[in-house]
Amino acid sequence: MSVFLDHASTTGLRESARLALTQALELVGNPSSVHSQGRTTRELLETARDQLATACGANRSEIIFNSGGTESDNQAIKGIYWARHKQDSNRNLIITATTEHHAVIDPVLWLEASQGADVAYVKLLEGGMIDISDLENIIQDHHSRIALITLMWVNNETGVITDIPKICEIAAKYEIPVHSDAVAAFGHIPIDFAASGLAAMSLSGHKIGAPIGVGALVVARSQKPTSLIHGGGQERSLRSGTMNYPLAAGFAAAATEAIAQLASEMERLKGLRNYLEARVVEIVPGVVFTSAKAMRADYNSHLVFPGTQSDAMLFLLDQEGICVSAGSACQAGVLGPSHVLAGMGYSPELASACIRVTLGSTTTKSDIDSFLIALAKVHPIALKATPA
Ligand SMILES: Cc1ncc(COP(=O)(O)O)c(C=O)c1O
Repeated sequence: MSVFLDHASTTGLRESARLALTQALELVGNPSSVHSQGRTTRELLETARDQLATACGANRSEIIFNSGGTESDNQAIKGIYWARHKQDSNRNLIITATTEHHAVIDPVLWLEASQGADVAYVKLLEGGMIDISDLENIIQDHHSRIALITLMWVNNETGVITDIPKICEIAAKYEIPVHSDAVAAFGHIPIDFAASGLAAMSLSGHKIGAPIGVGALVVARSQKPTSLIHGGGQERSLRSGTMNYPLAAGFAAAATEAIAQLASEMERLKGLRNYLEARVVEIVPGVVFTSAKAMRADYNSHLVFPGTQSDAMLFLLDQEGICVSAGSACQAGVLGPSHVLAGMGYSPELASACIRVTLGSTTTKSDIDSFLIALAKVHPIALKATPA
């Protein structure tokens, strides 16, 4: 049996989500149909919308169900950019950071390459946190040109937390919409959409125990992003297509459970993560904790083992039955240096020597002990395997 410590890539289906999903799959009825079976599935969908809205502090009308984080990021960034640019063609500047997930960086780069957008990257402080004063300077200098700001709430590789409410407060002075990818934050740290001041926020189900392939874009009522897709006008015309009530029900159940357990899980996982890091430093005294100087999420430990290569470490740990990753799973097939660490100023050698250990609701102390035993065994081998 392998030990799974890669919960930030995806985590197991919660029993509550499995039940909600399978019960909904028994029903037949398009939620847009007027007959009784359609009304039944519509009711299920709207209950899921209520539950998800409660879980993330939004109004029910702000929840747009879709396929997950990548779609949400694309819809928010392109949709807000297009709408703002249409209103005022001078607004073509997007503010973001080099440490964002590719689901954010790539749409931004696409807008730059093909739609005439300009991009400004906010400076980072040591430890990877956003330099708020640099952001303030960019806003002051360019506010009339800014289409939107997009900054993630928790970094999926390092676990670093961004003070999103603070950023929204600064942006609000110039009525600049802020989008946040909250995929690695929701269900892991307390977040509240209404209190944050965000214009839009991306969520993904499979990071919190819902099935893969469901998520939501939370869109403030004041915002009218241009839709990526056109069709029947479902989901405030932002996600045309027959509404997927079974997946929505599964997502809402997982979210409700994750939020009910949030405080106790944060405490428990912090204890396990701190235990892990205290032991790792005994085994490999030269280890670097990439986000040690930052505010960070408790379920994440991001480690650099100088003199090793991530792919060798991943392979050797896997041989010992330990599943971890180097960074984002989407990048796992192409293990170059982590773009997040490169963005934080790490050398290519160090940015190629990282391991991400992420804990979840099923993680136990015995999982951590298994990781530590395997690390002690494989680290010397990984050092020898790395060309000088
Ligand atoms: C921060 C972040 N944003 C977006 C995504 C993409 O989410 P999804 O897999 O639901 O498309 C991920 C998944 O790794 C992520 O970690």
